Amino acid sequence: MNYNKIEYEKSFGTSAQLPASEMPEIAFSGRSNVGKSSLINRLFNRKNLARVSSVPGKTTTVNFFKSDDVRFVDLPGYGFAKRSESERIRWADLMEGYFNTSRPISLVIQLVDMRHPATADDRDMLTFLENTGYKYIIVLTKCDKLNKTQRLERRESVKQELGGFSPVDIIEFSAQTGEGADRLKDVIDNNFKSEA
Ligand code: GTP
Ligand code: MG
Repeated sequence: MNYNKIEYEKSFGTSAQLPASEMPEIAFSGRSNVGKSSLINRLFNRKNLARVSSVPGKTTTVNFFKSDDVRFVDLPGYGFAKRSESERIRWADLMEGYFNTSRPISLVIQLVDMRHPATADDRDMLTFLENTGYKYIIVLTKCDKLNKTQRLERRESVKQELGGFSPVDIIEFSAQTGEGADRLKDVIDNNFKSEA
């Protein structure tokens, strides 16, 4: 995978706008504010490729980024309580439209905040990934916010909390320090199939 080459392609706000895909895709999923856009920026070493915000709900569209022969997809976050009912419906339509079509989704990067147990929404998403059979990696984000003791504790707890799921790997990650980025790139390279 060439992480030096990436360009923003387009954003889509409704499922009807989503074009069929002609190339394999890697999608980034997780609750609002978990760090999806920050992770994408870190992977490609670009500050403002994907928009980051301390206010949850920044990414409200499905955003396509294109590398040589793979498309990276920044998905809008779930679990954002302050969203209006109509926004929630639009979000559900968008996510269903993205996942429930015959897109060549080669890999899903599922983000979970390392500081807290997976939320009910996280578990629903993980269950969906298990049931649909997508290959996915769990990335535990914001690990820089934990001290050494907390981190060891969380690492142990995560084994139980996520024990019922079968990601190809679980990676501790910090968009702030870059920790875990090289490992994540390796795991993506080892699991991405260009003919997905
Ligand atoms: P939505 O677009 O709302 O779905 O959120 P998102 O998942 O794209 O999160 P985003 O990347 O916008 O990050 C949300 C906030 O968390 C921002 O203030 C980031 O700076 C912060 N953040 C993201 N990743 C990390 C991390 O690894 N460490 C720390 N300390 N902060 C992070
Ligand atoms: Mg975002």
